[in-house]
Amino acid sequence: MERFNSKREQYERLGQNLRGLLDGERDAIANAANAAALIYHSVPDLNWVGFYFLRGDELVLGPFMGQPACVRIPLGKGVCGSSAARRESIVVGNVHQFDGHIACDASSNAELVVPLLWDGRVVGVLDLDSPHLERFDDEDRHGVEALARDWLSACDLDTIPGKLT
Ligand code: SME
Repeated sequence: MERFNSKREQYERLGQNLRGLLDGERDAIANAANAAALIYHSVPDLNWVGFYFLRGDELVLGPFMGQPACVRIPLGKGVCGSSAARRESIVVGNVHQFDGHIACDASSNAELVVPLLWDGRVVGVLDLDSPHLERFDDEDRHGVEALARDWLSACDLDTIPGKLT
């Protein structure tokens, strides 16, 4: 991602790239894998990016880039489970101060989790981790929420392994 453009412009460009990358493919797993790879290699200062899908009352790990991660997260637990339960994005400047944070990669210090909403219902979350404290702001949140919408628009619902709640 070019650093001389504004962050908003960078996310607009990334959205164009993501829509182009996913064009012609409707499988959610394939599209999640490519989305994770594109975001990981485009957004600066990340150490982990990936998908969790809601199955029953827990989130189950999906395609990601980064170190191996915890597989199951109960709804309402950690940053991911809290985001899914509240159906809203959560920006955490310092994960060590987030009550109930689930540490997967010791180098993560900041986190942004965006719910994947299908018609207002949660099918999972998109999770970004950074080693840099206070890495994510409202522009990142808006930008990643738009990427999540792009990913959802590119997928057929019956290929998403999450259960709608
Ligand atoms: N930190 C997350 C767990 C997922 S990892 O960051 C990949 C949480 O508290 O939900």
